[in-house]
Amino acid sequence: MEIQSFGYFGVRSQKLDDWAEFGPKFLGLEVVERTPSTLKLRMDDRRQRILVSSTDADVTAFGFEVTDAAALDQLAARLEARQVQVRRVTDADAELRGVTAAIRFADPAGNALEAFHGPIGIDEPFKPGRSISGFRTGAMGMGHAVLHVKKAEDLVPFYRDVLGFRISDYMVKPFTAYFFHLNPRQHSLALLQTGREGIHHIMMEVGMLDDVGQALDLANLQDRLAVSLGRHTNDLMTSFYARTPDDFMIEYGWGGRLIDVEAWSPSEMTFGGSLWGHDPVSASPEVLAARREARARAAEAGLRQPLQVAEGNYHLGSSSHCAWWDALKQGA
Ligand SMILES: [Fe+2]
Repeated sequence: MEIQSFGYFGVRSQKLDDWAEFGPKFLGLEVVERTPSTLKLRMDDRRQRILVSSTDADVTAFGFEVTDAAALDQLAARLEARQVQVRRVTDADAELRGVTAAIRFADPAGNALEAFHGPIGIDEPFKPGRSISGFRTGAMGMGHAVLHVKKAEDLVPFYRDVLGFRISDYMVKPFTAYFFHLNPRQHSLALLQTGREGIHHIMMEVGMLDDVGQALDLANLQDRLAVSLGRHTNDLMTSFYARTPDDFMIEYGWGGRLIDVEAWSPSEMTFGGSLWGHDPVSASPEVLAARREARARAAEAGLRQPLQVAEGNYHLGSSSHCAWWDALKQGA
C-alpha cells in the first residue's frame, strides 16, 4: 500500500521554552525555526521532522509518508470509502509541517494521523544541537511512534487492512502490544494496551552506541530518566527512555535491526519486550516484578542476539588477549 515510513511528528505544547532546550541540548536535534508559538526541529537532510506549536490545536499528529500526490489521493479515497473523515491540510499548514501536501484523519480511537508527500529539503548540512554522530533516518523514517490504547484488537484491523501496516509481532504477556512495520525498520508504530490514550513514546535512533550512553548520563544529570537502559527483544534496540517536557517519552536508541519485509512473518513474543534492562523508573512493584520475571525467563532460555552494526561502525577485534575467548574461537 501507499504508506512508506513514519515521516514527522507534531505536538501541541505549552512548554515551548522547555522543548527549545530539550530538543537540541538533550536530543541533539537542530532548531531550524523558533517563533513565539512554534518550534521546528531538524534531524537529517529534511528541513524538519518535529513541529511543536503552542497555539495550533491541530498540530498533534503522526505524519506518515507516501511516495507522491497520486498515492496520497489513493489513500484518501480508500479512507473515505471506509467512512473515515479525511481533511486536506491547507497549503499554509503543509508548509508549517515542511511538506508539499498532507491529509488529516483519525484512527478509530481518535488518534490524529496525517499522511503526506513531498518533504521539503534544505541545502545546509544538519548541525546537531549537541555533539552526536547523527540520526538513522532515510527510507526508514524518523523512528517509531508508540500509542497508548484501551484495546489494541479494536485498532489492529484499521492499521493493517485500511492503512496497510504489516504486523511485525505482538505480545499478550506481561502486557498486550502490537508492533507494525512499513519498511525494514522492525517497527514504525506500536499499540500498547495500557488502558490509557495518547502518545506513549517516540523512538529516535542515533548513529553510535556512545550517543546513547552520553544521553543517558545527561538524563541522570537532569533527572529525566523514565525507563532504564535495556535491549528490546524485537527490534534489538539498545535504548533508554527520557521524559519530555510533556506527558510522553522519547526512546533514545542505537543498533536497531533491519528486517526483510517480504520474508517476514509475524509471531508472538513470549519473553516480554526486553532481553535485559528497561525498568520503568516509577512503575508499581507488581509491574516491575512481572517484567523482571519475563526477563529472567528470557535469560534462562539463552535469549541473546548479535549486535546489529552498520558498515563502518565497528572494528573487528583481532586479538582478545583472553585465554577463555581464544580457546572458544579455536573450538576448545
Ligand atoms: Fe519503542
